[in-house]
Amino acid sequence: MEKYVIQGGKPLRGSVEISGAKNAAVAIIPAALMVRGVCRLENLPEISDTDTLLHILTYLGAKVNMINRTTVELDCTHVQMDTLPEDMWNLTRRIRASYYLIGAMLGRFGRARSTMPGGCNFGVRPIDQHIKGLTALGADMDVSGGFIRATAKNGRLRGTTIYLDKVSVGATINIMIAAATAEGRTVIENVAREPHIVDLANFLNSMGADVRGAGTDVIKIRGVKSLHGGAYTLIPDQIEAGTYMAAVAAAGGAVRVSNVIPKHLECISSKLREMNVEVEEGDDYVLVCRNGPLHPVNLKTMPYPGFPTDMQPQMTAVLCCAPGLSVVTEGVWNNGRFKYVGELKKMGANIAVEDQSAILQGVEKLTGAVVRACDLRAGAAVVIAGLAAEGVTKVEDVTYIERGYQDLVGKFRALGADIRCIEEPESEPVVNWNAG
Ligand code: EPZ
Repeated sequence: MEKYVIQGGKPLRGSVEISGAKNAAVAIIPAALMVRGVCRLENLPEISDTDTLLHILTYLGAKVNMINRTTVELDCTHVQMDTLPEDMWNLTRRIRASYYLIGAMLGRFGRARSTMPGGCNFGVRPIDQHIKGLTALGADMDVSGGFIRATAKNGRLRGTTIYLDKVSVGATINIMIAAATAEGRTVIENVAREPHIVDLANFLNSMGADVRGAGTDVIKIRGVKSLHGGAYTLIPDQIEAGTYMAAVAAAGGAVRVSNVIPKHLECISSKLREMNVEVEEGDDYVLVCRNGPLHPVNLKTMPYPGFPTDMQPQMTAVLCCAPGLSVVTEGVWNNGRFKYVGELKKMGANIAVEDQSAILQGVEKLTGAVVRACDLRAGAAVVIAGLAAEGVTKVEDVTYIERGYQDLVGKFRALGADIRCIEEPESEPVVNWNAG
């Protein structure tokens, strides 16, 4: 079992290059299923979720040609399968983004069958808005027995107006993909506005689609008969960048975070400045520097352009050592996604979770411990805590981290962190024989 071993207490210095956006890549790769021609995708992140989706497309009959580590040419012209075969079910059940294959297959073939998606386990993750949108486009939807089956009446989806009851990244993406080749015009109201939504729309338009309004709360799509090949470069990952910015805030030091779009980081930069961290914006980089003591803050996560929920665990880890009282409130996920708090408490954090909020009393120092990555961003949080802590932290279940962060150990080592990846048997569960 792979684990990270971190000797904390070393400030971070130097420059880190941000990779392509995970949540754009996991939408664009399934969307490439709709393209009759060669899609050249550049700035793909080298993460396991990308590998999983490329493996699935290969299995479906796509030609996948890795040009280099971050560039792939996909040709789905001859893909005819509209059903994910049983051999793929363990993969489609593992990642959240597998449900985008439904939107793509439905849009291309008028039929789609796959498993329910997987993804980070922070409680119930409904898909009712996906079902609402695809049904409105004229699909008969059957979600039962752990599978999703969709069939377009008369063989092709028809454009319509859809009002999403909840701002949902996934539903916005799935409906946008399916509607790209639906007959007529589709208007989707109350959509998500994240940078990766705009990236997907730009990708689809590069392949001949007609998608307007991405980045606002209304997206308008004029369906086209088919999509042609082309080339597209993905945006840098807003959350990966924010994770390194938070790590500097926690461990101290000065780092240039390169290959970013500062506009996408505005909420994170603003909150870090409130915490007494210096953030200077360049054209395609930010300089992050923390010398003095952190200030406590309150933050609430909201859909973009609000503070990103995918930065919530990382910021909580930073605030563990901000003297005073901080409150972190989760405004996107109903169950708060606070499972990682127990791991931070093993390191000496003083945190209480009440409803949708984590209430922190800053402590002088965290101390290293054996902790686990409860999910992708929770894993990033315990790494950040380990970098700041006194002593050695061992992080288990790091496969979660590798789903969404390209070469996290290598990038932190280049910044002077004492972190390495080891192979070790899983630690025995701690049994408290004195437990009542
Ligand atoms: C995407 O998940 C991201 N995953 C998540 O990032 C991110 O936390 C989330 O968007 C919010 O930004 C990917 O892009 C692969 P949602 P998604 O649909 O699409 C409710 C990471 O760390 N909802 O925007 O599943 C839902 O319960 C991952 O990279 C419904 O009620 O999130 C939640 O409360 C973790 N019905 C809210 O909407 C639906 O049909 C937002 O969910 C869909 C969602």
